[in-house]
Amino acid sequence: MPPVIKTEDLSKSFGKTEALHHLTFEIQKGEIVGLLGPNGAGKTTTMRLITGYLKPSSGRIWIEGEDMAQAPMAFKGKIGYLPENSPLYNDLTVHASLQFAAAIHLIPKNERKEAIRAVMEKTRIADVAHRLVGHLSRGYRQRVGLAQALIHNPSLLILDEPTMGLDPKQIIEIRELISSLGGTSTVILSSHIMQEVHALCHRLIIIHKGRMVGDETPKGDVKNLEEMFLRLTDS
Ligand SMILES: Nc1ncnc2c1ncn2[C@@H]1O[C@H](COP(=O)(O)OP(=O)(O)OP(=O)(O)O)[C@@H](O)[C@H]1O
Ligand SMILES: [Mg+2]
Repeated sequence: MPPVIKTEDLSKSFGKTEALHHLTFEIQKGEIVGLLGPNGAGKTTTMRLITGYLKPSSGRIWIEGEDMAQAPMAFKGKIGYLPENSPLYNDLTVHASLQFAAAIHLIPKNERKEAIRAVMEKTRIADVAHRLVGHLSRGYRQRVGLAQALIHNPSLLILDEPTMGLDPKQIIEIRELISSLGGTSTVILSSHIMQEVHALCHRLIIIHKGRMVGDETPKGDVKNLEEMFLRLTDS
């Protein structure tokens, strides 16, 4: 079976800023991979390239063995994406925003009701179904963003700081949810919280100033991970 994601010499520049420099990695089915790096390392840029929201300046991406440059739209159905600061429509109710998400993910009309019900249960937002998104607390907004990313049961989930702004109880819930997806879905998430990636991820790809500086399995104490992170990103 081909890797779910393979990148080769992936680079991205914004004008004179080289945000990513020759990134090469493979991610296998069922892996939960943490993308780790300081602010500005290139995590969000990597995710935007893999989801097709940005085009690479050079290099290639294959999703399940197929070259993304050949058919960028064909991958949308396979990917669930929670962008950084999950942008949402404040004037819609939670239910209406999920109807919208179901429609853009091309879920057949007769399956939408059940898909919405199931994802609201999974992300525990059924109790706010009829509230306006703009009136929700940050944690609930994040869960709505996650529900939108999950609604079509994607085989690849890309989550940019999924627990940002959540309280400790919500963090545990989201962590358990992500954990339960591993094995069947493939998950890439970015985070600044060491305990989180240590507890959740099978593997850590560490990037710093647009370059991959580490590809590690979290083991030992979370302190070891902190020390390693500081060492790899100390320049
Ligand atoms: N649209 C853009 N235009 C210009 N520069 C950009 C753009 N997007 C990202 N960059 C630059 O690319 C680099 C990587 O940014 P990126 O957002 O990928 O970092 P990050 O690892 O996600 O950081 P953070 O932890 O702060 O979210 C930064 O130098 C950033 O300023
Ligand atoms: Mg980012």
